[in-house]
Amino acid sequence: IPVDSTVDAGAQVQQLINVECNTSFDEAPILIVNFTVLKGPNSSGQCRWYCSIPQSISLKLPVMVNKFFEQTEMGSQIFFSRWKLLSNPAQEEQKIFKAQFPIDKEVNKAKIIGFGLSSLEGVDPNPDNYVGAGVIHTKAMQIGCLMRLEPNLQAQMYRLTLRTSKESVSKRLCELLSVQF
Ligand SMILES: *[C@@H]1O[C@H](CO)[C@@H](O)[C@H](O)[C@H]1NC(C)=O
Ligand SMILES: *[C@@H]1O[C@H](CO)[C@@H](O)[C@H](O)[C@H]1NC(C)=O
Repeated sequence: IPVDSTVDAGAQVQQLINVECNTSFDEAPILIVNFTVLKGPNSSGQCRWYCSIPQSISLKLPVMVNKFFEQTEMGSQIFFSRWKLLSNPAQEEQKIFKAQFPIDKEVNKAKIIGFGLSSLEGVDPNPDNYVGAGVIHTKAMQIGCLMRLEPNLQAQMYRLTLRTSKESVSKRLCELLSVQF
């Protein structure tokens, strides 16, 4: 959105940012805002008339690779046949961790959907487990992702497994998702 080249002190200007994903990434994108502050004369004599002071601010955008997910619905047979296709050890990332929150089926399903994956019903033979699927769309490629989350109710722990066609994506998704439960 075009805006005035100057913003008054204390005023706000809204900007819409459109983010495109060329390829998968691990770190949130940084938006660098460069601007100059125009200062009037002050008593210290630094600015005898007006002086402009260049500023640069780095803003980390709240955008991670899961923002580019499209949920995928599929039945048990397709899920597990794709699961087997992604059986190269580099394609799998697994984490075992203690639950930070009470283990609640509906809350967990909402978190999985909120992350961008589908929450597939009747796919895992164990009804306590969660499975999900999605495709990450990037300009360079589409990355199919499968997820399985197995709670251990007695120990209040989880085992989270991500399988995708790209090693770095499996790793990053596993890190981002594991901190939510
Ligand atoms: C992303 O793709 C656009 C359009 O294809 C291109 O102009 C841009 O340079 C690419 N950015 C990076 C970081 O590769
Ligand atoms: C923004 O400011 C930084 C720090 O002063 C500088 O390194 C960078 O080149 C500037 N970028 C632009 C596009 O002017």
